[in-house]
Amino acid sequence: MIDIAEIHSIRPSKLNDFAGQEDIKTNLKIYLEGAKSRGDPLDHTLFNGPPGLGKTTLAKIVAYEMETEMKMIIAPAITKVADLAAILTSLSKNEVLFIDEIHRLNKSIEELLYSALEDYKIDILIGEGPSAKILNINLPKFTLIGATTRIGLISKPLRDRFGIIFNMGFYTIDELKPIIMRTAKIFDFSCDEDASEEVAMRSRGTPRIAVKLLKRVRDFLSIKKLNFLTKDEVLKIFVAISIDKFGLEEEDRRYLKFIAVNYGSLPVGIETISAALSMERDTIEDYIEPYLISIGIVQRTSRGRVLTENGLNYAMNLI
Ligand SMILES: Nc1ncnc2c1ncn2[C@@H]1O[C@H](COP(=O)(O)OP(=O)(O)OP(=O)(O)O)[C@@H](O)[C@H]1O
Ligand SMILES: [Mg+2]
Repeated sequence: MIDIAEIHSIRPSKLNDFAGQEDIKTNLKIYLEGAKSRGDPLDHTLFNGPPGLGKTTLAKIVAYEMETEMKMIIAPAITKVADLAAILTSLSKNEVLFIDEIHRLNKSIEELLYSALEDYKIDILIGEGPSAKILNINLPKFTLIGATTRIGLISKPLRDRFGIIFNMGFYTIDELKPIIMRTAKIFDFSCDEDASEEVAMRSRGTPRIAVKLLKRVRDFLSIKKLNFLTKDEVLKIFVAISIDKFGLEEEDRRYLKFIAVNYGSLPVGIETISAALSMERDTIEDYIEPYLISIGIVQRTSRGRVLTENGLNYAMNLI
């Protein structure tokens, strides 16, 4: 069963408790203070980056720091213009509207956002034919926070309406360590520096993965009735769950093996990989590749995916 209280405590609610992403935090702090001192909402903000880096967490932090509420919706759930109009007209002054996966917003719905974002106004067509009327509605000033894993799929008019755009990158080992120690404490076990470093190395630069790994670690510790995690223990657990020292799992290994065996160091198209591995293209592009690219074992080129020398060596060791 999912423990709601636990989820809330894992997610930091104040900007000062959010670890890593120092440049974003420094700037966000200034923008928040500026907006608050003027009594304005924060400018519309877009968070871009791979899954699990803290986009939703930061949106909630913005609402908390602005002492306001947040309404949250995932873009594909808005299927009609009227749905978005209903959400927009329900906002109160300075409230945060968080739209997740904003690159998946339907075009006609996106157009309604343009005037809402720029002028805090929307025009809605009521009725049909000659009796149709345009209703102009004024909205309170609000903040739109968009989150996306694919900034390239957001149209220019929408992108230009975000006053603030933050690109989030993978966390370093040192940035992940405090997140791991803090989460371990919430999970009721302690963890020394060395142990947290081993977990961090396997977290693919991603807090969500760090949290997920710690849940597995917690299971192993509970069975052994231990409440302290050491480096030795971590190493044993990761062997048991087949996660290597780079954080690569079975899916990554299948991906790398397929390319190495069939293409060596030649390029291969994403559709071919997706069909061969029976894996959705989006899953490969969002979850598998960004990290493999960031550690320099795969490259995306115009002719397809290519294993680097390191990637080929790694894959050959698996065969
Ligand atoms: N900087 C951080 N400090 C502490 N915990 C964090 C941090 N960033 C993320 N987390 C934790 O990692 C998990 C994932 O964060 P979050 O849901 O905000 O990611 P996301 O970027 O919105 O991911 P997605 O794109 O998949 O929606 C949460 O449990 C959150 O508490
Ligand atoms: Mg999210």
